[in-house]
Amino acid sequence: MPLKQEHRFRSLALTAVAAAAFSVVGFVESTPAYAKTSDTQPQALTASAVAVADKYAADTAEQIFRQGGNAVDAAVAIAFTLAVTYPEAGNIGGGGFMTLYVDHRPYFLDYRERAPMSATRNMYLDDKGEVIKGMSLYGHRAVGVPGTVDGMWEAQKRFGKLKWKQVLAPAIKYAENGFVVDDQLIERRDRAAKDFAGKTNFDLYFGSMKAGQTFKQPDLADTLQRISDKGAKGFYQGKTADLIATSMTGHGLITARDLKEYKAVWRQPVVASWNGYRVITAPPPSSGGIGLVQLLKMKADLKDKFDGVPLDSAQYIHLVAEIEKRVFADRAQYLGDPDFYKVPVAQLIDDDYILKRAQEVNPETPSDTKSVQPGLGTSMPEKAETTHFSVVDKWGNAVSNTYTINGYFGSGVIAEGTGVVLNDEMDDFSAKPGVANMFGVVGSDANAIAPRKRPLSSMTPTILTKDDKVAMVIGTPGGSRIFTSIFQVLSNVYDFQMPLAEAVGATRFHHQLLPPNTIFQEPFHQLDPDVVKQLEDKGYKFSMQGFNGDIQAIRIDDTTPQPMSDPRGRGVSRVIQ
Ligand code: GLY
Repeated sequence: MPLKQEHRFRSLALTAVAAAAFSVVGFVESTPAYAKTSDTQPQALTASAVAVADKYAADTAEQIFRQGGNAVDAAVAIAFTLAVTYPEAGNIGGGGFMTLYVDHRPYFLDYRERAPMSATRNMYLDDKGEVIKGMSLYGHRAVGVPGTVDGMWEAQKRFGKLKWKQVLAPAIKYAENGFVVDDQLIERRDRAAKDFAGKTNFDLYFGSMKAGQTFKQPDLADTLQRISDKGAKGFYQGKTADLIATSMTGHGLITARDLKEYKAVWRQPVVASWNGYRVITAPPPSSGGIGLVQLLKMKADLKDKFDGVPLDSAQYIHLVAEIEKRVFADRAQYLGDPDFYKVPVAQLIDDDYILKRAQEVNPETPSDTKSVQPGLGTSMPEKAETTHFSVVDKWGNAVSNTYTINGYFGSGVIAEGTGVVLNDEMDDFSAKPGVANMFGVVGSDANAIAPRKRPLSSMTPTILTKDDKVAMVIGTPGGSRIFTSIFQVLSNVYDFQMPLAEAVGATRFHHQLLPPNTIFQEPFHQLDPDVVKQLEDKGYKFSMQGFNGDIQAIRIDDTTPQPMSDPRGRGVSRVIQ
């Protein structure tokens, strides 16, 4: 069914702008036709499948597929459901990225939050020019203009098969009738409550939530109902927008005009060839897609050095850390919102450039951090939360979606009368570009705060195809650990030939240039103490990180989808006939 003309023209214009900005990226497709997937398409897979952050989202997906919905309908319904049942990271008060493969074509939707119009470069600095601790993390001033509802609206309008009301219905039911609260949600609520104490209205809204009991959200149900009745306007205009703007008055910067003017953007995805697959992933304002492609290709370029090196051995971890050092040096210097800063995407994923960077890797000892650092430094450390879901339908369409309110429960602000948990995505900007930060390096201008600008992200929703068919749908939360986690799982599957469950459950580690020569490991699977000792002897330090991702992946071999949820989280994977 063709879409309304006005929508078609706006989207075509955006596609043209995006194509110009990315004209030298590895792959630029012609403007796609605007058609919904057809009911008469032959079935490509034996079943539909999802890997999602909780069981309610899996039930929602099942309901949507049973009603005849496709992967995009299911994805949008999952996103709204998680806003209710996974309130620590699922959201309508944040933003994200959606990578799609529909009718054998790749698409990318950027619905990242934007800085409010009255935001300024130095808004988090005091009179002495020092960063005011916590201001970009907690409370109203930390909030970026939310993009999730417009993102879901755009995606469903363009590619969905069901009625908009059908994809909202499960979420409204969970908000109205409640859902049974998981222990993990309570642990996360309790930790967040300490950060927000005395600063926000968090306790008023979530304080009564108890493990094993039903939690109802009547304000959120009303907000979702307005979105169901009026589409994106039910959030960005009228009562919901008024309530959000009113809650900001005297505290924060977002106005009714900020909300009314928010727009999600269709962009060209980053596309690269690797290992016989086409990797379709996130372009700026994410750093993740470029980072992922650099990691995968640098490792392939160093095949002779990796050959025969066992996974998780000291030599393996050293080589991966050397690669990661170089990727994070580029991330710090070159990446920001492409609508404000010319990001050299093509150069950064160019094969010759990546080979040159791979050749700088020292196979014996850690390269000196300062010699790798490009000189313009790094942005502030990112929050590791966020959530991801992966979906395929039986027609072979796929959605890889990562969305976030940044830290668990975002800014801790719930806009009064709406039930909407607002993000703290402003913290993903460089609060103090050009000046040394806590690591003795400077933040990049590419990611400085400006009105309407989108902060740099690491979210990396990714799809791999082979012979124009979906082979893998994958993503995870984890801040700057997102693309190093995805890289490790892909490497486990395709280089080490592990079954997906083993690849996702395997140990993960992380290095990001700064702090110097520091390897982060996880309590879930600690590294062998002998390996740690060998690396310490080389000059590495070790740090324990509480959380290293929550991968949600679907592998498709031939025509059978195999979904897998990370054992680190409370995710559920399901094949749906
Ligand atoms: N806030 C986490 C990210 O955007 O990567």
